[in-house]
Amino acid sequence: MRPVIAILENIHPDGIAAMREFATIVDLTTAPVEECRQCLGTADAVVVKSVTQVNAAFLDAAKNLKVVARCGTGMDNIDVEAAGARGISVFNIPKGNSRSAAEFTLLMILCVAKRLPEAIEAVRNSDFRRHLLEGREISQLTIGIIGLGNVGFRVALLLKPFGCRLLALDPKSAYSDRLEEAQVTLCSDIDALLSESDIVTLHMSLNNDVRHILDAARLARMKRGAALVNCARAELVDQAALISALDAGHLSAVALDLLEPEPPYGAMPEEHEFRHALLGRKDVLVTPHMAASTIDAQRTLALETAHRLREYLS
Ligand code: MLT
Repeated sequence: MRPVIAILENIHPDGIAAMREFATIVDLTTAPVEECRQCLGTADAVVVKSVTQVNAAFLDAAKNLKVVARCGTGMDNIDVEAAGARGISVFNIPKGNSRSAAEFTLLMILCVAKRLPEAIEAVRNSDFRRHLLEGREISQLTIGIIGLGNVGFRVALLLKPFGCRLLALDPKSAYSDRLEEAQVTLCSDIDALLSESDIVTLHMSLNNDVRHILDAARLARMKRGAALVNCARAELVDQAALISALDAGHLSAVALDLLEPEPPYGAMPEEHEFRHALLGRKDVLVTPHMAASTIDAQRTLALETAHRLREYLS
């Protein structure tokens, strides 16, 4: 019998074609909740990204499940312990989208340094007063990278040619080769990094130890006029404290690829229009969790997921 793979979130079609070679595919990307629950019971494997909450209730509904494939990096939406207790394997593809996420982070850093979102908004309002929008040269800045893993390290490498001062914080001393290659100085603690950086960028996996790692006290330790970039997980920053720091003028700009909670994906009927305190501000740039959403990364992730599933299910 061919194994059944249930796809719960959109992945690149080349990955689905590769999975069809050895499995029956059930597309649940647009299925209503009840249909989803019924179909889950027949699945040997599920493919998810970061939206589906693979919690105990999900795992209980998936009675035949052998493997959860996380087609991406972050595992914070998967209860790995609950899966293990039920004998279900879990894997992710940790490097498949790092380059895309790093490139997008570089873009966010350039946007806040050059005040691009404000400039676009000003011109949209027929305001061409460029002297009100002077930005900074990256070469003159200190950029603090919190987390020197797959994405943070690539961000450092992309920034190196700009000649800026790079600081990093990372618990893994094994990364000493990375520090040298990207010419990054390791900070002894987060406060040192925060107090010296003009722009801080977050690159950590989310877990309970680092939830709100940037709280009111830590945001207050950032340099006055500094900017924050977050393309990792929204929950790393206390959003209420972030709004206060912006209102007080302590932070000059924030670029976020994520919000807490994340808005619903797909078509949004007008009556359910998503509202959020961080939207609609001149000093905040928000994008829809798209740092890793390039055709290139999505194809790589989907093909690698298919390859790993073939191994797990054979
Ligand atoms: C990831 O964790 O890989 C990225 O946040 C993209 C995603 O899968 O949503």
